[in-house]
Amino acid sequence: MESGIRQVDFSRKLFGDNFAWGVSTAAFQIEGACDADGKGLSIWDVFTGKKGKIANGETAEIACDFYNNYKRDIDLIRELNIPNFRFSISWTRIIPNGTGAVNQAGIDYYNNVIAYSLENGIEPWITLYHWDLPHELELKGGWTNRNIIGWFSDFVAVCAKAFGDRVKHWMVMNEPGVFTGAGYFLGNHAPGRIGLKNFLPAIHHVTLSIAEGAKKLRGILPDAIIGTTFSCSYIEPYSTKQRDVAAANRADALLNRLFIEPLLGCGYPVKDVPALKGIEKYFLTGDPHNLTFDFDFIGIQNYTREIVKYSFFTPYINARLVKAEDRAVPLTEMKWEVYSPAIYNVIKKFSAYAGVKNIIVTENGAAFPDVVVNGEVDDPLRVGYLQNHIEQVLKAKNDGCKVNGYFVWTLTDNFEWAEGYRPRFGLVHVDFETQRRIIKSSGRWFASFLKR
Ligand code: NOJ
Repeated sequence: MESGIRQVDFSRKLFGDNFAWGVSTAAFQIEGACDADGKGLSIWDVFTGKKGKIANGETAEIACDFYNNYKRDIDLIRELNIPNFRFSISWTRIIPNGTGAVNQAGIDYYNNVIAYSLENGIEPWITLYHWDLPHELELKGGWTNRNIIGWFSDFVAVCAKAFGDRVKHWMVMNEPGVFTGAGYFLGNHAPGRIGLKNFLPAIHHVTLSIAEGAKKLRGILPDAIIGTTFSCSYIEPYSTKQRDVAAANRADALLNRLFIEPLLGCGYPVKDVPALKGIEKYFLTGDPHNLTFDFDFIGIQNYTREIVKYSFFTPYINARLVKAEDRAVPLTEMKWEVYSPAIYNVIKKFSAYAGVKNIIVTENGAAFPDVVVNGEVDDPLRVGYLQNHIEQVLKAKNDGCKVNGYFVWTLTDNFEWAEGYRPRFGLVHVDFETQRRIIKSSGRWFASFLKR
């Protein structure tokens, strides 16, 4: 059964004392204060200002007002017994133009967030890049310009030196497949570019930057625990017909293998997606080696499963996703299928790579249409979703997979990119008019699950 609360017969204890439990967030989705204290513009500040890009014309100028009131939400993390807090650094708070002068106010702000988390017994986990590229760098070509490897590396060095004495866990980037695919191929995310001519160089420079950023961190912080995160959906063919099976294999290569394989030294999956062949044009001598890094952990972010069918009309890949809406399956507010074995299968898949030493589920969660009734938000569908997925993570762990952490997406309802504020993913409800918080039943359930 995929919906509703079940009587679960497992507890946090079954995962062992070293299993990392946490909650994940991202700077642009919660902070607001888009031009406070010397912050520069990011591509998302610019994109959200363009007509027709975001549902209902919403922007993230205020979002959850986390920048001005971070203590309120860190207090909630403590109240929910959540021991680890993943957040990202806004590049333009630290280096407003992307390169050059450092903005001390930005450093001070993240130092305050780190200090307040630690004071409350909460361990900070940093994502260095969660999609909000400095607009000034986009004007120079953004991820399509190879110089970005150096710009990114300098930004990483500033963060490592500023925060590395207290922060042990680092993730270099968040979901490269999504921000290159949506931002540089489909154009429905910032910076809104389309086509292979943008997508292919972006893929290569992002992958090189992930490896370079990780090496930079390792050089400055030899004891840091370094990872990077990937979006991964469990993919199954629509039928057992050979052409559907082959289509699913191509979609899997594009959606799940594109970034991790070059980083592990296996190269881009060009054999399975011939359209990627053009990427070779962007290679310089030494790149196959420059693309690699020996990560301490891999962050996997799973929400659903996709069913893939052969499609004559879909360019480059001849495969299409069969919408969950057309499959008579339970759906979230994002119209994603609720299917908990997906997380078990992606953990198995990523565990099988010899180069993967440790897996942390750095995001999992669901948006449902929550309503406030008498000052409370009862969200049994989210409770059921979390229970079922956590149970599948335990199953993977008991099967010998190297999975040692699980982070819920996300703490509070927040700005869901092109979808605006409608999809609510939080353990905590936010009234965006008043900024009032209400802990949902799912938040209460997670708090009791985590209680020692
Ligand atoms: C993945 C992204 O990292 C995050 O920013 C987004 O809000 C969630 N998934 C939900 O779509």
